[in-house]
Amino acid sequence: MKLFSIALTTVMALAGGTALAETASLDIIPQPQKVEVGKGSFKASGATFNCDPALDRNTLDLIRVFSSRLSLLAGRNNSFATPVGLDRALSRNQVKGFIFLLDSSLQNEAYTIHVTPKNAVVKASGYNGFLYAIQTLKQLLPDGIFTGEKASGKVTIPCCSIQDSPRFAYRGLMLDCARHFYSVEEVKKFLDVAAMYKINRFHWHLTEDQGWRIEIKKYPLLTEVGAFRSGTQQTYDRRKNDGIRYGGYYTQDQIRDIVAYAGKLGIIVIPELDLPGHMLAAMASYPWLGCTGGPYEVWTKWGVSDQVLCVGKESTFEFLFNVLDEICELFPSEYLHIGGDECPKKEWAKCPVCQAKIAELGIKDGDGATKEQRLQNYVTKRVQDYLETKGRKIIGWDEILEGDLAEGATVMSWRGTKGGIQAAGMGFDVIMSPTDYCYLDYKQGENDRETFVGAGYARSKFYDAENLYNYEPLDGFDAGTTAHITGVQANMWTEYIRNDKELFYMLIPRLQALSEVQWCAPANKDYGRFTGKLGKHLKLMEKLGYNYRPL
Ligand code: ACM
Ligand code: ZN
Repeated sequence: MKLFSIALTTVMALAGGTALAETASLDIIPQPQKVEVGKGSFKASGATFNCDPALDRNTLDLIRVFSSRLSLLAGRNNSFATPVGLDRALSRNQVKGFIFLLDSSLQNEAYTIHVTPKNAVVKASGYNGFLYAIQTLKQLLPDGIFTGEKASGKVTIPCCSIQDSPRFAYRGLMLDCARHFYSVEEVKKFLDVAAMYKINRFHWHLTEDQGWRIEIKKYPLLTEVGAFRSGTQQTYDRRKNDGIRYGGYYTQDQIRDIVAYAGKLGIIVIPELDLPGHMLAAMASYPWLGCTGGPYEVWTKWGVSDQVLCVGKESTFEFLFNVLDEICELFPSEYLHIGGDECPKKEWAKCPVCQAKIAELGIKDGDGATKEQRLQNYVTKRVQDYLETKGRKIIGWDEILEGDLAEGATVMSWRGTKGGIQAAGMGFDVIMSPTDYCYLDYKQGENDRETFVGAGYARSKFYDAENLYNYEPLDGFDAGTTAHITGVQANMWTEYIRNDKELFYMLIPRLQALSEVQWCAPANKDYGRFTGKLGKHLKLMEKLGYNYRPL
């Protein structure tokens, strides 16, 4: 019989030496709010799953999937039941096996787990709470629960008591599928590992100068033309180009498939339609979208293009609203990302149509903003108002704050933290995603240049897992404004990240570090403990076919 081992990285005997419980990390990432480890274990193989009949169908399905994976792992069937009066029977301590109980007193996404030799009781108030309880339980089981391999010995869970809930409601991860394209399978693999670490938002960067990646039925050229470029810049040298046609896009069916897949993982997909800059692929498809009328080319270089949407024309808004109609059909998320970053104003300053619009709107410069910046405010506001008629809200990069921003927008602070601090001070909700901590395209070590071209050329600074781990999102904020910080997100920009091998090397283990920043209260973070837990997780990553960067 081979028992799997549980490394107690922090063992603290309780006072008096007679207490049964010790606190320990149990190697769970992200670290739960409160963990106590008891004596003995619960035999999970063959244990009955008793589920509260009040649970909704999706939650019951989720638990059923866990029970079948456990059956595979242990090589024994776990029967499934939804007995009435479960809570009463439980209070008389009459139920053996797994017990999943709805507890509406728990906050959204919170869960509790109480494991004794007799039973394992899981409580939550909704789908994500049960999902996270299961993610935690899986981390207490042999790796076969993830890989599908049968365990060689008895399958048990250590007796323990866990109370857990997240620090931040918004726990995001962004993937740029425009600079480099990732297949549906690769995106799912990215989502799988994000969900293991309790991330609940997938910010999907789908449109760029270098490629348009989402099928829009009303504008077929967006994907016929805009999804392909005639070459790709190699390394930092803008003159070096491979001249090889590159591209791809997601059909609407594939998008729906990914949205549904993410939903089961507790992840809301937030698409980004980056506007009014970063639109060259759309302008190459429909040149009337630009100030000069083109011709334009899907960009083969990296950087910020001066060519942006002509926002003096009504036809541009008609286009944007039609595209947003289809996006709203595909993505149920309340929040949609409308970009707003890096929009040079050179073309607008020269364009008679844009200038006529500025005059018509009576836009003035002053108070630190140019007329053209205020023209971008007008674009943001029109898109925001349009989406509001559909019950949607906007997120934008922190440039949307320049000039005047209308109430109700959420600001994603990426150029350091000052945009976030300013926005929260003005009463806007904020998601923190500063480059110095949360940009996953920065290399992780001085010597990464040798590892592969992607990481080697991934920007010039280096920021490893420890740097991200030590990020404190509330630093610099006035105490009265911190309630506006809804969460933290890390961004995977992919100019220099070309395939899934490079992608996961750049993601892992910064993903695990991110998860503790997003999930854990500051007092519950400990980098030494984190690295102690990580070895087991990296072994699992390897078994699951994820590349990673060793610490
Ligand atoms: C950004 O990195 N341009 C948001
Ligand atoms: Zn114009």
